[in-house]
Amino acid sequence: MCGIVGAVAERNILPVLVEGLKRLEYRGYDSAGVALLDGDGTLQRVRRPGKVSELEQALATAPLNGRLGIAHTRWATHGVPSERNAHPHFSGNDLALVHNGIIENHEPLRARLKDMGYLFTSETDTEVIVHLLHHHLDALGDLADALKATVKELHGAYGLAVISAKQPDRLLATRSGSPLVIGLGLGENFLASDQLALRQVTDRFMYLEEGDIAEIRRDSVQVWDLDGQPVQREQVQYHEGAEAADKGAYRHFMLKEIHEQPKVVQRTLEGRLGLDHVLVEAFGPQAGALLAKVRNVQIVACGTSYHAGMVARYWLEELAGIPCQIEVASEFRYRKVVVQPDTLFVSISQSGETADTLAALRNAKQLAPGAGGYLASLAICNVGTSSLVRESDLTLLTQAGPEIGVASTKAFTTQLVALLLLTLALGRMRGGLSATVEAELVDELRRLPTRLGEALGMDKTVEKVAELFAEKHHTLFLGRGAQYPVAMEGALKLKEISYIHAEAYPAGELKHGPLALVDSDMPVVTVAPNNELVEKLKSNLQEVRARGGQLVVFADIEAGIDNGEGTHVVSMPHIHDILAPILYTLPLQLLSYYVAVLKGTDVDQPRNLAKSVTVE
Ligand code: F6R
Repeated sequence: MCGIVGAVAERNILPVLVEGLKRLEYRGYDSAGVALLDGDGTLQRVRRPGKVSELEQALATAPLNGRLGIAHTRWATHGVPSERNAHPHFSGNDLALVHNGIIENHEPLRARLKDMGYLFTSETDTEVIVHLLHHHLDALGDLADALKATVKELHGAYGLAVISAKQPDRLLATRSGSPLVIGLGLGENFLASDQLALRQVTDRFMYLEEGDIAEIRRDSVQVWDLDGQPVQREQVQYHEGAEAADKGAYRHFMLKEIHEQPKVVQRTLEGRLGLDHVLVEAFGPQAGALLAKVRNVQIVACGTSYHAGMVARYWLEELAGIPCQIEVASEFRYRKVVVQPDTLFVSISQSGETADTLAALRNAKQLAPGAGGYLASLAICNVGTSSLVRESDLTLLTQAGPEIGVASTKAFTTQLVALLLLTLALGRMRGGLSATVEAELVDELRRLPTRLGEALGMDKTVEKVAELFAEKHHTLFLGRGAQYPVAMEGALKLKEISYIHAEAYPAGELKHGPLALVDSDMPVVTVAPNNELVEKLKSNLQEVRARGGQLVVFADIEAGIDNGEGTHVVSMPHIHDILAPILYTLPLQLLSYYVAVLKGTDVDQPRNLAKSVTVE
C-alpha cells in the first residue's frame, strides 16, 4: 500500500527520503516519486513507475539536492501505475503533495476545480487535493490555514504531506483514516506513514491522531487537533524490540506476534473504511468494475490461510448472499474444476510464495473468462512484492508486517479482516447487504483492535489452563458455524508447536464418531460465542461431560456456560457474532503457545516445518 516520507533539515535530505521509501517497500506499491525544494527555491520532482530501485537509477543520472522534501510509494487505486499518476502531485510550480488513502468526492471536486481553470495532468483522486489546497492558499496566504480549509472539503481517507516553494521552511501534514508519524531529530524533523521508514534517522516519535494537522519545521513541531485547537502529542522513545526482526521483551516471536494483533488489525483497516462503508477503491484501480460483476467466489489456500477462507465462506454466503466454494490448493490444482459464471478466484497466502497456491492461481488463469474460466483473480496476501500479488488481477494486502514465527498468528487475523472487508464490499455491490448492516459492521470493525487488546488481557488465565494439556497426547477442538474453522485453526496451532495430536470437528459431528475417543485423557476445547447455536453447543458439551471428558470452554461472558467439575470456562468479552471468529482465535493461539512452552518445544521453529512452503 502507499507510503509517505518527508523531511525538513539543514542537510541534503534526498538519501533519507529514498532510504525511507525502501523501508516501506514491504507494504506493496507500483510507482515511486520524490519532490525536493532545491537551493534556488525551485520544486524539483522525479517519479517512476515500478520499483524504488528504478527511481534511484533515475536520481543517479539527475540527482536532486534539497533540505525540504516529500516522497511516496503509490499503490494504484485511481488510474494505472504510471509516471504521471505517481506522487508527488504539483499544483503550479510551487506546491507539492503526497497522499495515502482514497478521496471519495474527487469527481465533484475535480469538476469544480476545472471550472476554476485548474488543469489536471493525472487520473488520480490525489490531484484534486493539491489544486484545492492551491486555491485555498491563494485566498488565505498561510499553508497551515489553507490545509485546514482543504481537509474540510474532503470525504474519504487520507494521510497527506505538503511542501510549498513559497513557504520553504515547513512541511505540513494531516491524517484521517491513514496513519502518520513525526520523527523528531536534532535541528531536523521527519514525517512518515510508518515509523519503520525513519528508524535510520531517529528513535523519537510523535504519532498524529485522527484529524490532526501538523506544521513541521527544522526546530519545532506544532499540532492542531480536529477542532483546530493547538495540542501537544506525546513523544515516544522507540525501544529496540518493537522491530519485526527483534523479539524485544518477548520470549518468542510467536508471543510477540500474538500481541501485535490489535496494532496490525488496525493497520489492515487503515485507509479502507469510509464513514459507514468499505472503500472499494482500496482493492485496486479496476476493482469497482470487476467486483460489481461477481456472482460466485472460489477461494483457494493452504493451512492457516485455508482456515481464513473457510470463515469467509460463512460471511460471503450469510452477509453478501454470494455462493462461495473453498478448497485446499494442493487438491484444487490437480482437479478438473467446473467454474460457475462470473466467479472471482480468491487466493489467500501470508507469504504469497506457497507453491500449491501459486500453481492453483496459474491454473485458474489459464481458463479463459467466458469459456468456463474465472472472471478475475484477487490475492489476499501479506507480501506486496510476492509472486501471488504480481500474478493476480486485484490485491488486498494484509498489513501484518513480517511474520517470523513459523506458526501463523497475526497473518491469520489480518486475513480475516481483509476477507470481511471483501465480503462487505461485495455484499453492497451485489445488493445482498443493507446499508444499515454494513454501517454497523464498519463500526464494529473500528472497535475491533480494542476488543482484541481486551482479549489478550487474559494471557495469564490461558497460561494456567495450558497446564491441563502438558501431559496429554490427544485433544479435540469443537466449534459450530463460523467457529468450526476457528476450532480447526486452534487444533493446527496446537499440533504444530506442541506436537500434541489435535483434531477439530464441527460440534454436531461429535456423536457421529469422535465421541468414541472421549475419556478423561482427551481434553476437549470449545469456542462458544453467545449466538443462536450456543444452546446446541451446550448439548454437545454435555455429551462430552457424560463420558468423563475434560472441557475447556472459551465462552462469551453472557453465554451461560459456567465453571464446574471437569469444565474450565475462560470468559470472553462480548462481541458481534460476525466478528467472533477473529476474537476467539486469540485465546486458542495463546493456549497452544503456553502448552508448547510447558513442553519445551522449539516454539518459533517447530520441527519439520518451514515458514514459506515454496516447494510442492
Ligand atoms: C500454520 C502455517 C501454515 C501456512 C501455510 C500457507 O501455522 O503457517 O499452515 O498457513 O503453509 O502459507 P501461506 O499463507 O504463506 O500461503
